[in-house]
Amino acid sequence: MGSLNLIYACLITSGVAMTKRKFIRKICLLGDGGVGKTSLVRRCVLDMFSDEYIKTFGTKVSKKVIDLGEVELTLMIWDVLGQKASTLHEAYYKGAYGALLVCDLTREETVRSLERWRDDLFQVIGEKPLVLVANKSDLERVVKEDVLAEVAGSFGVDFTITSAKSGDGVDEAFLELGRKIMEESD
Ligand code: GTP
Repeated sequence: MGSLNLIYACLITSGVAMTKRKFIRKICLLGDGGVGKTSLVRRCVLDMFSDEYIKTFGTKVSKKVIDLGEVELTLMIWDVLGQKASTLHEAYYKGAYGALLVCDLTREETVRSLERWRDDLFQVIGEKPLVLVANKSDLERVVKEDVLAEVAGSFGVDFTITSAKSGDGVDEAFLELGRKIMEESD
């Protein structure tokens, strides 16, 4: 046997597989209208941003593959128009493994309403991993960091500060949620 073949055979038999374990997981984006949910998805999936207000009618599903070392995770990202949580259809939440709870750093009321979004989600799918995302960091901030810390702390989750406009923090937010989802699966 040639030496390359021998190395290859050793790798296989020693269990050093070259392929990653692959998973597909649905996630949702939740939060009041205009906080930047659709913009975050566009930034994360297409790496682009539009200043135009996109009123999302209906639900849009986008796909993002993230690399978690031994695991390749495909996130199926569900994004829906800014409706009151109570008017969202259950099907939107069903089958989700986690969610990004998105608020707008320029509007404090969007932080306060996250509790309602979380409760609505958990009513349908039970407790699941969440990441609180405070978006629009490129604008003048109204929401103080201690308010975010307080709300995130009361949910027992981490928060990430993002700008869908500059891209800051966006990949990290999706990555963090992906990591948490895979931790739950172990
Ligand atoms: P709904 O579809 O109504 O639920 O809104 P949404 O949460 O999906 O918000 P969307 O992504 O449509 O963004 C609303 C507005 O905020 C748009 O004008 C965006 O261009 C703007 N926007 C979103 N993210 C950012 C950001 O990080 N910085 C700035 N400056 N503007 C943002």
